[in-house]
Amino acid sequence: MEFKVLIIDFGSQYTQLIARRVRELNIYCEIFSFNNLPKNILEYSAVILSGSPFSVHSKNAPKIDITKIKGKVPILGICYGAQFLADYYGGQVGKSSTREYGRAKLNIHDTKNLLYGFKNNTQVWMSHADTINKLPSNSEKLASTEDVKNAAFKFKSEHTFAIQFHPEVYHTTYGIKLLENFLVKISKIRQTWTPDSFVKMTVQKIKDKIKKDKVILGLSGGVDSSVAAILIKNAIGDNLICIFVNNGLLRKGEFESVLNQYENMGLNIIGVDRSKQFLDNLKGVTDPEEKRKVIGNTFIDVFDEEAKKIKNAKWLAQGTIYPDVIESKSIKGPSATIKSHHNVGGLPDFMKLKIIEPLRMLFKDEVRRVGKTLKIDDSVLGRHPFPGPGLGIRILGDITSEKVSLLQEVDSIFINSLKEEGLYNSIWQAGAILLPVQSVGVMGDERTYERCIVLRAVSSTDGMTADWINLPYEFLQKVSNKIINNVVGVNRVVYDISSKPPSTIEWE
Ligand code: XMP
Repeated sequence: MEFKVLIIDFGSQYTQLIARRVRELNIYCEIFSFNNLPKNILEYSAVILSGSPFSVHSKNAPKIDITKIKGKVPILGICYGAQFLADYYGGQVGKSSTREYGRAKLNIHDTKNLLYGFKNNTQVWMSHADTINKLPSNSEKLASTEDVKNAAFKFKSEHTFAIQFHPEVYHTTYGIKLLENFLVKISKIRQTWTPDSFVKMTVQKIKDKIKKDKVILGLSGGVDSSVAAILIKNAIGDNLICIFVNNGLLRKGEFESVLNQYENMGLNIIGVDRSKQFLDNLKGVTDPEEKRKVIGNTFIDVFDEEAKKIKNAKWLAQGTIYPDVIESKSIKGPSATIKSHHNVGGLPDFMKLKIIEPLRMLFKDEVRRVGKTLKIDDSVLGRHPFPGPGLGIRILGDITSEKVSLLQEVDSIFINSLKEEGLYNSIWQAGAILLPVQSVGVMGDERTYERCIVLRAVSSTDGMTADWINLPYEFLQKVSNKIINNVVGVNRVVYDISSKPPSTIEWE
């Protein structure tokens, strides 16, 4: 990689957002926790120090040996990062008279460097309890606000900068400009990070790493595993062997259609239908977490069995993406958690394979952009997220094949209607849930006592929070009629109007 930026995470809720903004500038960056820094730190073109929930004076305050990099690589300290620099080099950091959250107007003292092109009184976003009362020696002030004396400063004769406000949030009017000034003007980084360059670089890397080995990949039909598959295929061709398991809990017709679609994409794919095995194992299981365990363990058994049939496979590919890899939202401090496989009875054979995760540095929308570069069909890239345990966690209570078929029919009517009405693409995720209750109805002259279906459609950016979608009444009316008229056994349809939190997207 020609240019890369290191973001040192001190545990701020905004760390991932900093990375997003840097990537938006077409500059590649990586986040590392302060307690797990890369060895080749001087190979980075610039370093950004994140904020933190800690005060520099707390006993457990995150600290690093900044002397190794200061003056050698351009540094930008943000919020706690700024306070850390001030404190380390002899400045004075203390409690603000009031905790400062929200908008402030920046009074600019120096428009040459970091704040090049800024207009006086521009809006910035503050979020801090401590403040820098005295600047460290050998530094100069760049900006202040009404409440914050030292809102931005720099160390003399070197590219080390510090700002109290957050350039990564949209409320900071010139936030992106500030990052661009730091990375492009000051650190001289070229903006060459694009999906196209990522594809070229990754394909080459995979070729070099895998050589003539065989790689196995479990496809789910989702965006991440599909993009990972095509990337790897572009590097090693048919030495990538994909396995797609039908757990009997997929959407209506999806096993066949997805398999077909993958074959058309030229993937070397094995489709395994184990619906019966999954449903047998799930018999009588009603607890949501227990269902997940049964489905997860059955998947491991099936995948292990299939993987063993592929001779000489040395690698297991996964569609892991960045939010799965790093979790920096913890209030206790940063933590880089790698997704682990929970399996109790010893490692299955396929887990002894070496792991390759070509998307582990990408955010979801970047995965989609890479997918577009790889010319993957929009119908794959635009697919709503679908949980691994599938309809299993949308059938409340015990699961039977009759209930699966019924829910598949309802779900298919709902999803197809969303597509027909042009609503599908503006929704993050939608689906139907089968309740374990029956209610009274009347059809013709008959009294009925049948099932109740819930429709759910939400907006979200990452699934962590979500809001229900205000679907048009006419649409809900049409879809409800269609479901009740076409799916025998359903006499009531309701729409879920709960947000997450306090609800969740899935009902189980
Ligand atoms: P919740 O229900 O927690 O869901 O709001 C957030 C997102 O995660 C998906 N989800 C799962 N995905 N295995 C998965 O692979 C699971 O057990 C699981 N549970 C929830 C859910 O569909 C939503 O996108």
